[in-house]
Amino acid sequence: MGDSVRLFDIQNKLRVLLPEYRFYHTLGVSYTAASLAMSHGGDVYKAQLAGLLHDCAKYLKSSEMITECEKNGIEISDIERLSPGLLHTKLGAFYAENVYGVEDVDVLSAITYHTTGRPDMSLLEEIIYVADYIEPSRPALPYIDEMRACAFTNLHKAALYELKSVITKIKEDNGVMDKRTEETYEYYKKLVEG
Ligand SMILES: [Fe+2]
Ligand SMILES: [Fe+2]
Repeated sequence: MGDSVRLFDIQNKLRVLLPEYRFYHTLGVSYTAASLAMSHGGDVYKAQLAGLLHDCAKYLKSSEMITECEKNGIEISDIERLSPGLLHTKLGAFYAENVYGVEDVDVLSAITYHTTGRPDMSLLEEIIYVADYIEPSRPALPYIDEMRACAFTNLHKAALYELKSVITKIKEDNGVMDKRTEETYEYYKKLVEG
């Protein structure tokens, strides 16, 4: 199957599975990721593929995510038990591999880390992390204008804005912070601001 046909085939499957707004978000992430890959010398096809599949498990309810993880031997951390929605990342990578036949480890890892990021992300991981936040259908979020203005010229700076935004929102909502988000923030703060 050619690359474009494969992407189109996955799109058609997701169109049926995902609610309409999430399907449009998914397309937005895929095309934004492709554009970021063009700007930063990344692999445009992998960016589209990871963008399409990043939320492929997000249509499940929290209880179903837990059941699916338990059934498939995917480890659930304490924080994920408290906020099972976080599991859509690991489960998404599992489905990408086992339902959609993705073998590329960088694509799978970009799906796994798209919500928390991680210190020293690969180019593809960072592209998906940022594209998820700046794609056109995203509602206004703290720092989104700053991110959109710099993502195509300075990806690390955009990632740092995203981390600041995520942390601001978690604090506002009195939410639980994943330890990896904190570690990622420290890493990119040092990298960008020295
Ligand atoms: Fe997601
Ligand atoms: Fe997303």
